Amino acid sequence: MYSEKVMDHFSNPRNVGELENPSGTGTVGNAKCGDIMKMDIQVENGVIVDVKFKTFGCGAAIATSSMATEMVKGKRVAEALQLTNKAVAEALDGLPPVKMHCSMLAEQAIHAAVEDYIKKHPEEAAGLELTQAE
Ligand code: FES
Repeated sequence: MYSEKVMDHFSNPRNVGELENPSGTGTVGNAKCGDIMKMDIQVENGVIVDVKFKTFGCGAAIATSSMATEMVKGKRVAEALQLTNKAVAEALDGLPPVKMHCSMLAEQAIHAAVEDYIKKHPEEAAGLELTQAE
């Protein structure tokens, strides 16, 4: 049912935990299953230099949050805003259709953390290209 990559990220999730003074933080939940995901990001010069997550949820939610952290680490915040749940699922070699909604949490949590960063640091964010077209 699950790819090897999903099992790997579920069994050995990367970047678990919380940042002490995050530049931005986002918490999202899925009302249906009750699962919750929190992302903290550390931004320096418009680049996400560190990211940590905590997920209270199913295996697919843990695997997708782990993969999402790997995908945005070292990226510019504008690029992190372009992250889609589809890209996360593809990076994990796919998810069963009934588990695609879990990857939505990863996308939403990253976006929420970046949006929080922009809100808290408007002066830094102003100089960044945040709405670049795909
Ligand atoms: Fe809720 Fe996976 S079942 S996020």
